[in-house]
Amino acid sequence: MQGGILLRVATPSDVPHLAPLISESARQLSRGFYSDREVESAIRHVFGVDTALIEDRTYYVATLNGALAGCGGWSRRNALYGGDQRRVGTPSFLDPATEPARLRAFFVAPSAARRGVGRRLFEECQEAARAAGFRALTLMATLPGVPFYSTLGFEQVEDVTDVLPDGVPLRFVRMTRALDSLAH
Ligand SMILES: CC(C)(COP(=O)(O)OP(=O)(O)OC[C@H]1O[C@@H](n2cnc3c(N)ncnc32)[C@H](O)[C@@H]1OP(=O)(O)O)[C@@H](O)C(=O)NCCC(=O)NCCS
Repeated sequence: MQGGILLRVATPSDVPHLAPLISESARQLSRGFYSDREVESAIRHVFGVDTALIEDRTYYVATLNGALAGCGGWSRRNALYGGDQRRVGTPSFLDPATEPARLRAFFVAPSAARRGVGRRLFEECQEAARAAGFRALTLMATLPGVPFYSTLGFEQVEDVTDVLPDGVPLRFVRMTRALDSLAH
């Protein structure tokens, strides 16, 4: 299946196509982790593209056998999670020598789930972050993201609850991983 996965750097023209993918990914792949109310609130207030990553050329689109299959990226900026509608953290640049790069906004189409798209996006991000001089990665995982990132070698740092603007509390797990220990 890996042979059918292709990545490219996302451009502003991708954003309208990514929005429905992100909503569908969240709705279908969050089942058993978040309630419907939590997912709909997250789609409104949290999940989405942060166009700062597109400007930085650190956000990627994945296709599987020619069809849009997922998106995800990394960031050299301080913001930790959230789309344009509610970015959490400042857009200032990180120091690669002392601060971890961010892994941001991974979403895979339900029809492409568990076929290695997320792992391929991660590999691209880790290589790019390492090439930029970063020594570690950190991220704010959704609950469905925790088993995925655990498989990729991330460790749980802390449980975080973000109360969204409509009063819905959404649970996340902050996770981190060294880049130096990666084998390839
Ligand atoms: C999390 C997500 C990005 C994973 O994408 P994916 O393309 O399905 O993941 P992969 O196929 O690359 O999986 C790699 C490995 O991660 C683990 N994994 C992935 N999803 C998992 C799940 N739901 N439960 C348990 N393990 C999982 C498995 O070990 C898997 O390897 P395997 O399929 O050979 O067993 C996807 O489920 C998703 O988009 N979820 C909804 C949106 C979301 O919450 N994103 C995370 C934002 S922080």
